[in-house]
Amino acid sequence: MQLTLRVWRQRDAKSPGRFETYEAKEVSPDVSFLEMLDLVNDDLQRRGLDPIAFDHDCREGICGSCAMMINGYAHGPEPAVTACQLYLRHFKDGDTITIEPWRAKPFPIIKDLVVDRSAFDRIIRAGGYVSVDTGNTPEANSIPVPKPDAEEAMDAAACIGCGACVAACPNASAMLFVAAKVAHLAKLPQGQAERKRRVVSMVGQMDQEGFGNCTNHYECMAACPKEIHVKFIAQLNRDYLRAARSRRPSEPQG
Ligand code: SF4
Ligand code: FES
Repeated sequence: MQLTLRVWRQRDAKSPGRFETYEAKEVSPDVSFLEMLDLVNDDLQRRGLDPIAFDHDCREGICGSCAMMINGYAHGPEPAVTACQLYLRHFKDGDTITIEPWRAKPFPIIKDLVVDRSAFDRIIRAGGYVSVDTGNTPEANSIPVPKPDAEEAMDAAACIGCGACVAACPNASAMLFVAAKVAHLAKLPQGQAERKRRVVSMVGQMDQEGFGNCTNHYECMAACPKEIHVKFIAQLNRDYLRAARSRRPSEPQG
């Protein structure tokens, strides 16, 4: 395949960025999108040019690192896959492909396609600890978890923190991410001890980081490679309202 790539190049957050055009020549339709970028970078380096900076780690849809917009879609046009799971066979020979970083104020550009997603880490940190029994390891079945709750907790826990939901949302809202992180503990008995404090703190941190509000576009769910459902946002709103109404003055104000 021959592909023309329009890639966003930007030295750092303060420098102006621009699109540069590159050719990916004679690439197999069986290589992944990131492998194709590796080949383009090999060629750039051979010619003494600066390779395209992009984030990646596991390359199997687990770590959430490979954040990039491909033809205007977060992680590319294929549903329920990360950019590292996208293969060139989903494109046509001769295609022009536009590649950009996540565009959201709370994710400042570090270089080219790499953005700083530490705002997500700070939201997770605001969630704090989970109280556990520090005695002997409890017998695995001593805390019964109803099957539907276990299934929902697992669905929410599938979130890999990639940020595609923020990049796809016209308001750069992080509600789907926060909802998933709150829900996977709120659904389990072990998550109840700090449930109220957790939701208030995480939503408070989300607002401080400058993420926008949810206005029900549902672009987040369409972009999410792990198919996290927007029903978790409704649950987040219910949890937050309940917690905010009932918290004592001594508890964190969010
Ligand atoms: S909710 Fe989906 S899109 Fe958002 S961070 Fe989690 S996995 Fe990525
Ligand atoms: S590189 Fe880990 S999810 Fe893509």
